[in-house]
Amino acid sequence: MKPRENQLPEQMTAIRQHEPGGALKTEQVAVPRPGPGEVVVKMDASPINPSDLALMAGGYLERSYPFTPGLEGSGTVVEAGSGLFPKLRLGKRVACSPDQGGDGTWADYMKTSAMKTAPLPKHISPEQGSMMLVNPMTAMAFIQLAREGKHRAMVNNAAASSLGKMLIRLTKSNGIPLINIVRRAEQVDALKELGAIHVLNSTAESFAAELKELAEELEATLILDAVTGSQSSTLLDAAPHGSTLVAYARLSGDPILADPGALIKEEKEIVGFQLGNWLQTKGILFKLRFINSVKRQLSSELSSTISRTYPLESAEEAIAQYREHMSEGKIVLKIGSY
Ligand SMILES: NC(=O)c1ccc[n+]([C@@H]2O[C@H](COP(=O)([O-])OP(=O)(O)OC[C@H]3O[C@@H](n4cnc5c(N)ncnc54)[C@H](OP(=O)(O)O)[C@@H]3O)[C@@H](O)[C@H]2O)c1
Repeated sequence: MKPRENQLPEQMTAIRQHEPGGALKTEQVAVPRPGPGEVVVKMDASPINPSDLALMAGGYLERSYPFTPGLEGSGTVVEAGSGLFPKLRLGKRVACSPDQGGDGTWADYMKTSAMKTAPLPKHISPEQGSMMLVNPMTAMAFIQLAREGKHRAMVNNAAASSLGKMLIRLTKSNGIPLINIVRRAEQVDALKELGAIHVLNSTAESFAAELKELAEELEATLILDAVTGSQSSTLLDAAPHGSTLVAYARLSGDPILADPGALIKEEKEIVGFQLGNWLQTKGILFKLRFINSVKRQLSSELSSTISRTYPLESAEEAIAQYREHMSEGKIVLKIGSY
């Protein structure tokens, strides 16, 4: 029998960027081979996330060029490097993400650490499975933060996002009141239809006062902030004494504005959250239970709405569509012929 590695083709199609903010090109590049502890995944699908846009704009993470974008996806492990863990993954359908600084999921094949893959349940589609590792785990992590910090209620902005919708369903099933903040009137209606109780529009004149009243009433002391900039100061001002503001993205592109006096007098704190860093603080048993719980809820509380799929070669068009219609659902690049 020939070694498995020979079954991989020499060349593959990949989306490449040659400089920060530069155009995306569809190119033929060498198929990667796995090193020790690594696997090669034949890709099926990959979503476009805000973190992909930030990475392609440059300045988000250190990286060398040219590179292949795509921070999560799904596929099948077709090649395993040395070590027990890669061998255990061989032939499995997995959700996967690239190693830091490595080439990403927007290609026919991706090489990554076996640790960066998680087997997908049979009933999960490649598209839904391609979104298992980032938003579902983050939404679950936020519930954990609320429990660990004994917060009675929480606030989340950019709440019409996929992650925001997961959080609406999860907080409902966990009995944690959630104040959702959006920036368009139609998003208020959409989230209420989804079952959200408290939805505020940040562009309304009464926004700051309503938020303060509601946050005090519900004792919402966990403030999840994906927008930052001037919205952070409104959030901090409205937050009850002793609140924690968790910055988990900077969609506005602006730094956090905060009045140090209010932080000092009212014992409020600002912390950052990044899923990978947070997971590193947890033990192996917690992680196993956590990922199993994510898998169980992937087709219910933690499912993502998919608005459209595009072939890999149409990544530029898919991104343009995504930028204009972010709250309508995820745009997924369909890579494999599954
Ligand atoms: N730190 C972490 O570990 C971590 C992990 C997962 C996700 N995240 C972050 O969580 C956020 C949601 O991710 P997702 O994949 O669920 O997003 P998504 O479904 O792609 O939706 C993005 C949302 O952001 C809103 N938005 C964009 N720019 C905005 C701005 N300047 N001000 C207010 N709202 C804005 C969009 O609203 P419009 O439709 O009105 O544009 C849309 O509702 C992202 O920022 C992502 O980076 C962070």
